[in-house]
Amino acid sequence: MKIDVLLGLQWGDEGKGKITDVLTPEYDIIARFQGGPNAGHTLEFDGLKHVLHTIPSGIFHADKANVIGNGVIIDPFTLAKEIRKLRVMGVEPSKNLLISKRAHLIVPTHRLLDAVQEASKGTSKIGSTLKGIGPAYTDKSARNGLRIGDVKSTDFKDKFNAQKKMHFKAIDSYNPEPDWLKIEGMNPDEYEKLWFEGLDYISDIQLIDSEIFINQSLKAGKRILAEGAQGTMLDVDFGTYPFVTSSNTITAGVCAGLGIAPHSIGRVFGVFKAYCTRVGSGPFPTELHSETGERMRKNGNEFGSTTGRPRRCGWIDLPALKYAVMLNGVTDLVMMKADVLDDFEKISICTQYKIGETLYDFPGYETLNSPIKPVLEDFKGWQTAISNYKAWEELPQGFRHYVSNLESVLNVPISIVSLGPNRDQTIIRKSSD
Ligand code: GDP
Ligand code: IMO
Ligand code: MG
Repeated sequence: MKIDVLLGLQWGDEGKGKITDVLTPEYDIIARFQGGPNAGHTLEFDGLKHVLHTIPSGIFHADKANVIGNGVIIDPFTLAKEIRKLRVMGVEPSKNLLISKRAHLIVPTHRLLDAVQEASKGTSKIGSTLKGIGPAYTDKSARNGLRIGDVKSTDFKDKFNAQKKMHFKAIDSYNPEPDWLKIEGMNPDEYEKLWFEGLDYISDIQLIDSEIFINQSLKAGKRILAEGAQGTMLDVDFGTYPFVTSSNTITAGVCAGLGIAPHSIGRVFGVFKAYCTRVGSGPFPTELHSETGERMRKNGNEFGSTTGRPRRCGWIDLPALKYAVMLNGVTDLVMMKADVLDDFEKISICTQYKIGETLYDFPGYETLNSPIKPVLEDFKGWQTAISNYKAWEELPQGFRHYVSNLESVLNVPISIVSLGPNRDQTIIRKSSD
């Protein structure tokens, strides 16, 4: 068997959680391979809305295994909070959640470091979610990290304290203001106590060698879906560096983040919005600062699932999407949130970037940091409420025209369209559609 992949093609928040949940019945195992609590994946079904951060979006299906892979970084405080919330809803993660022993820990001082590093950047700040992502992946790469598999070892507390001491030295070098030294509004000591309580609380979740579990499951014919976090344009290598996250969000990240060979990759579902959003700083060529952008934010409820921050909004960016399709080897496109554009008289798509008199088809090394003028093509809006449509052929002509146009530019079929936040508001197209 091969492992299928589902990931974001833009700057995150494309709707990966919703589609993972929709596709879960087709799989036996759902696995996260990178990122951590910076992610916020929203699921809606049966009148319920739930946001997951570290836990894979298959968790509501009791008969499916959900794996937090070695490439993910874990904050026991936030993971415990997630698990508590699930238990209130009658979901028991100790039954179907498995964590790689090799997954690194986000310690309290990673969050302080994230905060002081951001604050010290002033106007050039990245807009980090302040969950400690950058510092935790830095320690992993620098070989100073602590892994969840280390927690039971007798010298864990010594290692934790040594790391803490080292972090405080670094924090002091930023001459932090007192209010930078808070985590979730708490003093570091208070938070550390809750962090350890969290670690204790999650101790009934099974720790495994997930690379062996995943490979043996593939061999046994199990179907596996790898669920990405963030998006391709936030990838640490190919995104809008330095305004990116600290992991490889692309398909290649699945191999390192779960321990599987490249030839084991099967279908790649690339999820994108019918427009574009970004939260945090950095280049966004099609951003709209107008009433139109405001309308997208309002219609699409574009506020961060993790931080609540308003998301920046703009037209769909085909040069960036083509780049993302190329980097990920996308076999199936999934278009989200077209319903947000239902009342738009005119919908634009960016087909190229213009810098001076030169046109670009892809974001290059220099282009994204130059003043780009997006070349726009206009479409007539469908001006019909599409959220409750159940069949592809019933959808308005204008909508289908928009979809087929994107397909011909991106050269990949759009095999799923999402027409609302609910699990049921999804059309999976037949090959004859
Ligand atoms: P993720 O991080 O990629 O999982 O996406 P988020 O959950 O952060 O953001 C997507 C938001 O859009 C959530 O609030 C979803 O409930 C919502 N959503 C998902 N699909 C649709 C859709 O087709 N239409 C609308 N209107 N909302 C959607
Ligand atoms: P999901 O999985 C949208 C953005 C942050 C910031 C940058 C770096 O829900 O799509 P970090 O905390 O990773 O150091 O922040 O990346 N970012 C996201 N934006 N969706 C996400 O996740 C994100 N995770 C991080 O806003 O600009
Ligand atoms: Mg999100």
